[in-house]
Amino acid sequence: MNLSITHSDRPIGARVANVRLPDLDEDAFRRILDLVNERSVVTIEGQDLSEQQQIDFARRFGELQKIFLKDALSSRYPELFVVSNILENGKPIGSTDAGVYWHTDGAYLPKPHSVSMLYAIEVPEKDGKAVGDTLFAAMGAAYDALPQATREQVDRLRGVHSLHYRYATKADAAQDMAELTRQFPPVSHPLAIRHPATGRKCLYLSEGYTTRIEGLPEDEGEALLKALCEHVVRPEFQYRHRWAPGDLLIWDNRATLHRATFDYALPQRRLMRRATVSGEAFG
Ligand code: OGA
Ligand code: MN
Repeated sequence: MNLSITHSDRPIGARVANVRLPDLDEDAFRRILDLVNERSVVTIEGQDLSEQQQIDFARRFGELQKIFLKDALSSRYPELFVVSNILENGKPIGSTDAGVYWHTDGAYLPKPHSVSMLYAIEVPEKDGKAVGDTLFAAMGAAYDALPQATREQVDRLRGVHSLHYRYATKADAAQDMAELTRQFPPVSHPLAIRHPATGRKCLYLSEGYTTRIEGLPEDEGEALLKALCEHVVRPEFQYRHRWAPGDLLIWDNRATLHRATFDYALPQRRLMRRATVSGEAFG
């Protein structure tokens, strides 16, 4: 298969054209996997994927992980998480507020998700231009840009991540918080992880899930966390994805943060579905 690959001019991001994912041979799949490791966010454009085809492609990356938000799962394929602002009979058909905060998927788990794949079916438009972009931040570049003393400091520290930290304030929080707390107690990960596939050091923290830094006095920890949260989303580390229907966007949760932009509203419709691959502990 004659894949056409272009890199963005940002530290992360690439685009693949001229491919039909259900027909992808092993060699072409390897090239896409390498590209995800190298560029962290990869758009496969021009797809027309059934739910089953999306699942089949995602499984090539590893075991799929079902998301805990039961009301937002596809009714026939619970491996798929629906991200949408569409209402049916007055009820949301998926998660209406995924990505309000900068975050990385599954940081609240002992083994966070490795990659996520979001497939665009309907993309809102304003004045003929797509809106509802997704923003990404390059956590390897953000680590490299830290002053050496800060790098040495974060290398020794761990952050605590919690689902309920921001979740309690989100509209999706219909499920019982006490039950969620039992199911997902806070977890700790290194503040700088070594990427399991590439070996690259990446900062691992986010405004969405990181509640505190272990082993520092509270005010010192808070100040460092705030400074790091601001540092990682500096414009030079960002990549902005403008969606088109048929895009399958693959991102590496170990090397990036992401955030949605909510610059649209019904009757502008947005419909996407996400498959998520299980990952491993960072040590
Ligand atoms: C997600 C997510 C952001 C968006 O699906 O994990 O954060 O722009 N989505 O839909
Ligand atoms: Mn997300």
